[in-house]
Amino acid sequence: MTDLVVPAVINLDVPGPVISRHLYGHFAEHLGRCVYGGLYVGEDSDLPNAGGIRLDVVEALRALDVPNLRWPGGCFADEYHWMDGVGPRDRRPVMVNTHWGGVEESNHFGTHEFMALCELLGAEPYISGNVGSGTVREMSDWVEYLTRDGDSPMVRLRRANGREEPWRVKFWGLGNEAWGCGGHMRAEQYAAEARRFGTYCRDHGGNRLYRVAAGANGDDYAWTETLMKQLGDLGCAHRPAPFMQALSFHHYTVPGSWEDKGDATVFDTDDHYRTMVAAARVDELLTGHSNVMDCYDPGRNVGLVLDEWGTWWNVEPGTNPGFLYQQNTLRDALVAALHFDVFHRHADRLVMANIAQTVNVLQAVILTDPDTGALVLTPTYHVFEMNKGHQDAASLRVDLPAGLPSREVGRASLTTVSLSASRRDGRVLVSLSNLDAAEAVDVELDLRGGAVADVRARVLTAGRLQDHNTPAAPDVVAPRPHEVSATGSGLRVPLPAHSFVTVEGRLA
Ligand code: AHR
Repeated sequence: MTDLVVPAVINLDVPGPVISRHLYGHFAEHLGRCVYGGLYVGEDSDLPNAGGIRLDVVEALRALDVPNLRWPGGCFADEYHWMDGVGPRDRRPVMVNTHWGGVEESNHFGTHEFMALCELLGAEPYISGNVGSGTVREMSDWVEYLTRDGDSPMVRLRRANGREEPWRVKFWGLGNEAWGCGGHMRAEQYAAEARRFGTYCRDHGGNRLYRVAAGANGDDYAWTETLMKQLGDLGCAHRPAPFMQALSFHHYTVPGSWEDKGDATVFDTDDHYRTMVAAARVDELLTGHSNVMDCYDPGRNVGLVLDEWGTWWNVEPGTNPGFLYQQNTLRDALVAALHFDVFHRHADRLVMANIAQTVNVLQAVILTDPDTGALVLTPTYHVFEMNKGHQDAASLRVDLPAGLPSREVGRASLTTVSLSASRRDGRVLVSLSNLDAAEAVDVELDLRGGAVADVRARVLTAGRLQDHNTPAAPDVVAPRPHEVSATGSGLRVPLPAHSFVTVEGRLA
């Protein structure tokens, strides 16, 4: 118990917008050891695999209920030519991955391998097509190859490559970061390209595409406005344009400069608070993009997608700078927890979000050892697992008093307590974070309009914010059972310094 008590009111009988499960999406790029060595080791590997896909990684990811997986990039997507990645593996051409380390790309992990991975995970595929260096015909053919039934040139090719039935692929990205690595286009120029590419990505049979236009860099609201105007041309408020159903943007948590982003495990308390301020900015960005979209689409027919988010640190010493390999501490877990609270509050416009990236790259949920293959679940993994009950749940508003605990960080003020809640199938889940590095706090949940029984709470914390998991010590940061106490009208939940807590129970 601590003297610092924050009251929070939750009306259990007033469900808000549904939190799409796709807000817990993933991203796997041909970058460093994400695909090769992370998700895919090849059929000849000593590690247990199915067609080359690592089964221990699949098992760990299945426990997260991964809703979707974005692939093959990122920047790589706009250099990827899918035809190079189908057919017998020994005849696939090798290419150079110019964006990421200049290494050779064998193309051994291609369309069929990706779809097999999605099937093993039970995740929906989200494919990023190549707008930057590809052609409209190439992308159109890819959609046909994957999703068309009956007879056609692409269907015959797919069958010749061993797949009789079409797959279902709903989510389709029209390029990536078109303002940068995806072609250095101006917004108007990209909007025209997106209309053209989107037009020829056809709905085959019952497969209805959900086309995501490549959106803004951070707070470039003008980019979002330009794309929305293109939709407005066709009167999207009443009849959504057929060539684009959503637009995206990216936000990375980088408290330092791009030249020196800071170290993943060596940082001080001030660095921690700066990180939390940078992470919390996602709320401002989501509000900004949503406000622009509301002007052109008040009915909220067009989705907003944050298809890359996460921390971005300097690479681990001694690793390839082009591989973006970084450790993952309790601080990263708090960044994730904060993002999810914000996502839940924006559930009426935000339809998808994808952590960058799933394995061995940036804010990974899994790290694997390049020599031994040993697998480690990161602190961020545990936040995804502890929060999975929010997927497809109805959000519940959390009312907090003014004057929440906060820290002054430079010219910013950081609120150090964050909460969100939801209900689904007669169960309630509340997520609570204490971002403060030193002070514990208790949250007193005033639960109105119902009661919660069979309460189970877990806490994710550690002695130090810098603590992380390694093959030798895999459970330094892992969820443990947590004690909460009943009050007259709800629950009192202690939050240790730098901790993430979930409380779940049955709606009684
Ligand atoms: O996730 C790493 C890179 O970050 C992606 O390839 C790119 O889209 C972004 O700049």
